[in-house]
Amino acid sequence: MMLGWRTEPSASRFQPLLPMTAADLRSLLAETADLPLDPQFAGRTRWIVEANRQPVGTISLTVESREHGLGAIGYGIGERHRGNGYATDAVRALLPLAFSPDSADLWRLEAVAATDNETSRRVLERCGFQLEGIARSYFLIRGRRVDHARYAILREEWEQTRSTERRHSEPAPL
Ligand SMILES: CC(C)(COP(=O)(O)OP(=O)(O)OC[C@H]1O[C@@H](n2cnc3c(N)ncnc32)[C@H](O)[C@@H]1OP(=O)(O)O)[C@@H](O)C(=O)NCCC(=O)NCCS
Repeated sequence: MMLGWRTEPSASRFQPLLPMTAADLRSLLAETADLPLDPQFAGRTRWIVEANRQPVGTISLTVESREHGLGAIGYGIGERHRGNGYATDAVRALLPLAFSPDSADLWRLEAVAATDNETSRRVLERCGFQLEGIARSYFLIRGRRVDHARYAILREEWEQTRSTERRHSEPAPL
C-alpha cells in the first residue's frame, strides 16, 4: 500500500523520495511507526493516515532539535484519496501531539513545500503555518534543484487558534 503511493508519479513530483523495496519499507515502519511521544522524544515517528478505516496516506514528525524544541513534518496522501481534506485533517491532528507539554513538547514546527506545490502549501496555510521565506534550490528532485517555500507554526500560534476555536464553539449567551 505505502509502496504503491510512493511509486505514484505525483508523489515523486514534489518530494525527494529515495527508492525503497517493500522490505525496506517494512523495516522502516517497524522501527518508526507510531512511537510513543513524550518530552524526551528525539528522532522521527510516522503514522498511517486513515479515513473510514482505510489507509489513505502517511504523515511524519521529526524532532530536529530537542534543545530548541524544533520539529518538522512531512506527509503524502495516495492519489485516489486526495481532495477530501485528509492531509488538512492529518496535519491538524498532529499539532497537539507536537506541541502539548505531555506529548512531544515542541515550540516550533516547520514544513517545506516545493514553491509550485500549491495544494500542499494551502494545506499548511489552512492549518495555521506561516510562510517564512523561499529556500532556493532546496531539494534535488528528479535531477532538478527545486526552490521550496518554508513554513512554520509556533506553539503560541497553535494555542491561540485552539482558544479561538473553543470560543466559537461555545454557545452564545442568551
Ligand atoms: C499535498 C497532498 C498531501 C494534499 O493531500 P490532500 O489530502 O488532497 O489535501 P486536502 O484534501 O486536505 O486539500 C486538498 C484540497 O481538497 C479540498 N478539500 C476537499 N474537501 C475538504 C475538506 N473536507 N476539508 C478540507 N479541505 C477539503 C481542499 O480545500 C483543498 O483544495 P485547494 O487545493 O483548492 O486548497 C497530496 O496532494 C499529496 O500527497 N501530494 C504528493 C506528495 C506531496 O506533495 N506531499 C507534500 C510534500 S510538502
